[in-house]
Amino acid sequence: MNVPAPGTRPAPFILELRLNGQPVRVQCSPDTRLLTLLREHWHLTGAKPGCEVGRCGACMVWLDDAPANACLLMAYQIQGQAVRTIESVAADTASEPVRAALAECGGVQCGYCTAGMVMTMTYLHRQQPRPAAGEAKALMCGNICRCTGYGGIRRAVERLFPEV
Ligand code: FES
Ligand code: FES
Repeated sequence: MNVPAPGTRPAPFILELRLNGQPVRVQCSPDTRLLTLLREHWHLTGAKPGCEVGRCGACMVWLDDAPANACLLMAYQIQGQAVRTIESVAADTASEPVRAALAECGGVQCGYCTAGMVMTMTYLHRQQPRPAAGEAKALMCGNICRCTGYGGIRRAVERLFPEV
């Protein structure tokens, strides 16, 4: 990719990727954020804008099956990769125990953080259902709840990862 002159925008390009299992393409500027594309182009609004600097996890997606903050990913960085959003993961049986634990343990208040929580917790649960003590909680540090409903979220994590 050519480096644009100072003060100018890079030329548009064609971004191609797999989105929730389907091939998609869009013409956009290489510096368009994935979060913007998801919400404004594909109308997938499950990933939420929160801090928009990679701290809160409200925008969490899976990039090639690992959690990633959509607010930090630019189009040129995801060319040819696979993205899954909560719209896909919520329909996946892998997320059922996570969604049940959050609901039954009172881990959802306004719900703004919940999609991001489900994305991270489902990844952890699928990868490593028996993490070392404290590991799951430590790995959840990138997901912040503005309602500060951490009591219920903590109970859900403890149910999902009994050795925590
Ligand atoms: S909005 Fe992306 S991490 Fe907060
Ligand atoms: S439930 Fe409201 S931000 Fe977490």
